[in-house]
Amino acid sequence: MQYDFDRVIDRSNSCSIKHEPLWRGKPADVLPLWVADMDFAAPPCVQDALIRRAEHGIFGYSEPDENYFDVAQKWFEERFSWTVQRDWLTITPGVVNALYIAVRALTEPGDGVVIQQPVYYPFESCVRKTERQLLVNELVYNGGRYGINFEDFEEKIKRAKMFIMCNPHNPIGRVWTKEELTRMGELCLRHNVKVIADEIHEDFVFPDRRHLVFAALNQDFADIAITCTSPSKTFNLAGLLHANIFISNKNLREKFKEEYARCGLSQPGVMGLAACKAAYQGGGEWLKQLLDYLAENMSLLKTYLSDHIPKIKLVEPEGTYLAWLDCNELGLSPQKLDETLTQRGKLWLSAGYTFGQGGKGFERMNVACPRIVLRNALERLKSVDWK
Ligand SMILES: Cc1ncc(COP(=O)(O)O)c(C=O)c1O
Repeated sequence: MQYDFDRVIDRSNSCSIKHEPLWRGKPADVLPLWVADMDFAAPPCVQDALIRRAEHGIFGYSEPDENYFDVAQKWFEERFSWTVQRDWLTITPGVVNALYIAVRALTEPGDGVVIQQPVYYPFESCVRKTERQLLVNELVYNGGRYGINFEDFEEKIKRAKMFIMCNPHNPIGRVWTKEELTRMGELCLRHNVKVIADEIHEDFVFPDRRHLVFAALNQDFADIAITCTSPSKTFNLAGLLHANIFISNKNLREKFKEEYARCGLSQPGVMGLAACKAAYQGGGEWLKQLLDYLAENMSLLKTYLSDHIPKIKLVEPEGTYLAWLDCNELGLSPQKLDETLTQRGKLWLSAGYTFGQGGKGFERMNVACPRIVLRNALERLKSVDWK
């Protein structure tokens, strides 16, 4: 079956945060390509499962059945050669929620937590709001590519109790290699630091790359890892609030579960369970076609920029559907850049500086949209008078 990613779906009046510009002080006619959800409908198998569940009519307290776990296990085994066990799993209302639970469960106020900016901004908020000490290992941007300054990483890790890793890394689009993951993991082991591996973008990897699950690299890494996964990015289910968190170390898992309970959480939502099971069971072919579509969108973006807007450069992505645009050559202050894009270009992107100091002069564009929408965005971008 051929899935139709070209179909434009009107998302206004659907409670979508992406499509309510006035609530967030943006002009009514902006084109929103900011927050990381997709403008594509979830796969038909997911929609059918939700309709069937809705038709059942009873929405009492729920829990995953044996089949839910088998389906999830198969998904991770087939895609990442990672065999998860049933008792490793805790279902939370989201990955961000799991970050807070893990930080509170496994560190104390004042403890150091390392993040690598530019990175998904809730990482910094999580460290600050839980009153831990923020330790930033700035990623190094060199020759159009990002890498890790390992000396600085070790210096920060020595002072930390926890590291929040993002792989694939939002917003800079790196998919960390085995060597990079191993080096980071070994330093964490050496200095007794736990690793939250936020792997929510794991299914979005471009063809010449492979996502490696940190906890699957070796037993020692598994012992210090809290692996955060979710079908929400992959199948566009963020509004269903459902994430699968795997912790194989019993001691860490018990502490995580205690903190989960302290937050008043117990059972997962019934619709999230139904959607996740259906997606992992029947969504493979849809995902394959989606990845091809996204690769073409990225390639269109890259060619269009170099042909028409050479001062804006795409940082070559290895994964995610988020394009990280280097706008430094425009010579604008971060605020002016964002304001010009919004007010003159009528484009609503994510301002680079919100991801940390190193994000200044960059913008993040979400290309998970029908091609006609992306073309419209590019034409808007081309027409901007930057002076
Ligand atoms: C790295 C990363 N982690 C977590 C999330 C959000 O996860 P959730 O909606 O499950 O809280 C996002 C969303 O963009 C993300 O990019």
